[in-house]
Parts: sequence; structure tokens; C-alpha cells
Amino acid sequence: MADNSTEKGLFRLDLEEIAEQIRNCTKCRLSGNRTNAVPGEGDGNTDVLFVGEGPGAQEDQQGRPFVGRAGNKLTEILDSVSFQRSEVYITNVVKCRPPENRAPKTDEVNSCIPYLEAQIAEINPSIIVTLGNAATKTLLETDEGITSTRGKFYSWRGEIQIFPMFHPSYLLRNPSKEKGSPKYKTWQDIKKVKKALTSR
Ligand code: URA
Repeated sequence: MADNSTEKGLFRLDLEEIAEQIRNCTKCRLSGNRTNAVPGEGDGNTDVLFVGEGPGAQEDQQGRPFVGRAGNKLTEILDSVSFQRSEVYITNVVKCRPPENRAPKTDEVNSCIPYLEAQIAEINPSIIVTLGNAATKTLLETDEGITSTRGKFYSWRGEIQIFPMFHPSYLLRNPSKEKGSPKYKTWQDIKKVKKALTSR
């Protein structure tokens, strides 16, 4: 018999059903302030899933992930290796905007994580790129920061590889492209992701 449960017990649903549950979710305080929940978007059959921290103001307005300034930066990073946004899947650890763009709190992450788990189970990517500390620490269950974790592949639950990268917002605050800068490293990192996917 097929195993229809995810690691954290949510029954296996397709991406649109998961999105519908997210849009109706009131499990944590973040639902109280949202204009729109932001389930995620892209190709459900992709090999690569990008996971950010949580929606910002623009994302909350539009109900779509990474559409503000950080989103433009992410699109630029993807473009650099000829990834279209429509051929990957992009989502976040929490699906509703934390006030003032603060980091999501542990109880908010714990309430929301079954949705990400369900999305991962449905998409079954070979690589999950975690963007920044929140996604990396949550999925790798580590306290280590992004500076030491980024740019390496970590085996995760057998088949999947997690690849942490700097969050695009961090690059907006650190725009230098000099060798060794966060931006320089990110442009190297995304090439590693592309190469890993094309050498499969
Ligand atoms: N930052 C994130 O982490 N996610 C978004 O969707 C937008 C900005």
C-alpha cells in the first residue's frame, strides 16, 4: 500500500489542495494580519525547490513568493544559470507575513512546517535550496548559521540534498561583487546547483 503520510503526519495532498489549506489556515497569530497567505509557486515536477523565510509586504499583497526586491534578486540569481522561475518551485518556511518582517517565531514555524513538509513530499525534489538562516536551520535542524553552512550539499532523509545559500535580502544589504563577498559566493553557489542537476 502506498505511504500517503508525510514525515509530520499531514495526509498526502496535491499542491493545489495544500495551497487551499494554507489560504484557509488560522493555526497561528500570523494569519490574523495577513492580506494573503503565500503558499508558493512554480513547477510541481521540478528537481529543485527554493525555500525562503517568509513573505514580505509585496508578497503579502500579491499572494506570491519573492516578488519584491528580494524576489528580483532571486530572479537575477536564477537567471545567471538560465533557470526560469516557472521551472523551479519557490516557497517559504512560513506562509504568512511576520509583522515588520521580523524573523518567524519558533511556534509559528512549528505550526506552519507541516505545509512545507507536504509540499516537499508532493514535489519530491532532488535538491532543496534553503535561502538564509530560517530555512536552513529549520530543515537541517541545526543551530549553525548560514555563513558556515552555505555552499555545501547535505544529505537529507535519504534521497534529497539540501544546499544552503545566502538569503537574497542579505545580498541587497551587501551589494559588493568582489571576490569572496556574499554575492560572489552566491553566484558560485547557484552554479553548483545547476551543475548538480545537469550531471544527474
Ligand atoms: N523573503 C522571503 O524569505 N520570502 C519571500 O517570499 C520574500 C522575501
